[in-house]
Order: sequence, then structure tokens, then C-alpha cells
Amino acid sequence: MSLEITLIVNGTPSCLVVDETTPLLHALRNMLGLRASRFGCGQEQCGACMVLMDGKPTYACSHLAMDADARVVETAESLMGHPLRAAFLAEQAGQCGYCLSGILMSAKALLDRTQSPSREAIVAALDPHLCRCGAHERIIRAVERAAAMLRGEAA
Ligand code: FES
Ligand code: FES
Repeated sequence: MSLEITLIVNGTPSCLVVDETTPLLHALRNMLGLRASRFGCGQEQCGACMVLMDGKPTYACSHLAMDADARVVETAESLMGHPLRAAFLAEQAGQCGYCLSGILMSAKALLDRTQSPSREAIVAALDPHLCRCGAHERIIRAVERAAAMLRGEAA
């Protein structure tokens, strides 16, 4: 059955016609053309699809588009001016790039809660994410650098 929903993505509301089984990730990538969020496993195992829904990290592969109706969704496209981007570039965090959009969104959710996260808190926030290339250390450093930038302590 088709239904009409309104997705508020990165501050822009869009009316979409979806069916009851349309994943949020499909709506974002294929209907709205927002390709930063990636499909990896489709089973809440890799985090490549992570977006924020009402500020909380949410697997877009397994959440239905209809459940995001009238909710506030953020994707990595929203991070253009965010210190996380500069920090990840400065630390050369990540290699493949495929997983990074999801990692960035979990990091954003953390930094939205606190600008002084402990290393343990960063590790815990990134726990749902697989990074097979072994860039974990640089990714953690990048989140620490972004936090320092938000506090006005680093460039
Ligand atoms: S694609 Fe959603 S967790 Fe892997
Ligand atoms: S940066 Fe993508 S798997 Fe490590």
C-alpha cells in the first residue's frame, strides 16, 4: 500500500510516496538523491547507513521511511561546514570512504551531546561501525580534534 509521508532531511521538508516496506535508506538515496548514506550489510551490522533521526543515530537500512514521517533526519550532506569534516581531513581519518558517512553521523550525535567527550565515550559512540581498513586510531583522533575545534582550542 502506498502512503504519502513528509521527510524533513537536513532542514528541508519533502513529500514522498512510499510503500510500507520502503527502507529509509532507499528514500534518502533513490528518491531524494542524498547518496552520502551507504548500503553495506542491510542488517544493522556495519553502520554505513547511519543517519540521525531526531538527533539519535539510526540505521537507515532497517528503519522504514514511513516511520520517519515528520521526523527530523540528518545525513552527512548536512556536515559541509562542520568541524568534523576538517578534522577528518586533517587526521587523514579513514581510507575507503565508504563507511565514513555513517561514522561521521555517530560522531556528530556524540559532539551534539558534549564537546568534551572522553576517549571511552568516542569508542562507545563508534562501536556500531565497522572499519575494516584499520583506521580506528585516526578516526578517534579526528573526533577528538573536532571536539577541540568546537571548544575553540584547535584549527
Ligand atoms: S547497511 Fe545499515 S548497518 Fe550495514
Ligand atoms: S575507512 Fe572505510 S573501512 Fe575503514
